[in-house]
Amino acid sequence: MARITASVYTSHIPAIGAALDLGKTHEPYWQPVFQGYESSRQWLKDNRPDVIFLVYNDHATAFSLDMIPTFAIGTAAEFKPADEGWGARPVPTVIGHPELASHIAQSVIQQDFDLTIVNKMDVDHGLTVPLSLLCGQPQAWPCPVIPFAVNVVQYPVPSGQRCFNLGQAIRKAVESYDEPLNVQIWGTGGMSHQLQGPRAGLINKAFDNAFLDQLIADPAALAKKPHIDYVREAGSEGIELVMWLIARGAMADVAGGKPPRVAHRFYHVPASNTAVGHLILENP
Ligand code: DHB
Ligand code: FE
Repeated sequence: MARITASVYTSHIPAIGAALDLGKTHEPYWQPVFQGYESSRQWLKDNRPDVIFLVYNDHATAFSLDMIPTFAIGTAAEFKPADEGWGARPVPTVIGHPELASHIAQSVIQQDFDLTIVNKMDVDHGLTVPLSLLCGQPQAWPCPVIPFAVNVVQYPVPSGQRCFNLGQAIRKAVESYDEPLNVQIWGTGGMSHQLQGPRAGLINKAFDNAFLDQLIADPAALAKKPHIDYVREAGSEGIELVMWLIARGAMADVAGGKPPRVAHRFYHVPASNTAVGHLILENP
């Protein structure tokens, strides 16, 4: 059977992708950010998954305001890096895993979560920046990736509780796949940030660190946090953090297993308009 071995959480700030693509990682502003991921790049080499299930949000790139799926699973054989207005990032095409993705769609929909099945889409910084942070600049990404897009851009967006429950359904789906695959689930976006309006530039270190603490120790309680708390405390784009609850819900302890091991934790301000948060949890 396939197994979820670890979960990875990280911000997806587009300027990080640009810093990497333009060779600026050693500039004083960016150096501390990339240094915070150095051990994670080694960790990923040492704990190479067969498949990454990557929970992210599309920023009106593949899905315009014409059509807004709440949860969308990428079942295609490949996904091209999107042109977000200044040309596609010079990063590898994402190779999918249509068989596992289709199995997860079947299983999760049978568990009463309505997913949109996406057989063709480009992937934006929400997906490619986390891969860059953990993989650097390879010729090809280290393994197939299943993109899982969550609407956190246009209200109504799903609750933290629904995301947490969905993670548990994804775990069941993976564990019922009849091939011994090592699967990692990544939750991306966040941390506190607001990109527009009078509060643009908002960062809340106390909120972010409390979120990380609770994500590790008591995710079931964290799942009860209402939208309004994210928006008030973490800014309008801080709502991206509900996606971390999908990954956390897929961990073993939520299904009665042992608590995860914290392999790495990192927090840094500033990076563009956002606080950078990053966590790696391993299943025992
Ligand atoms: C920034 C952060 C985001 O999450 C995003 O999608 C776009 C921009 C920023 O910090 O600049
Ligand atoms: Fe974003």
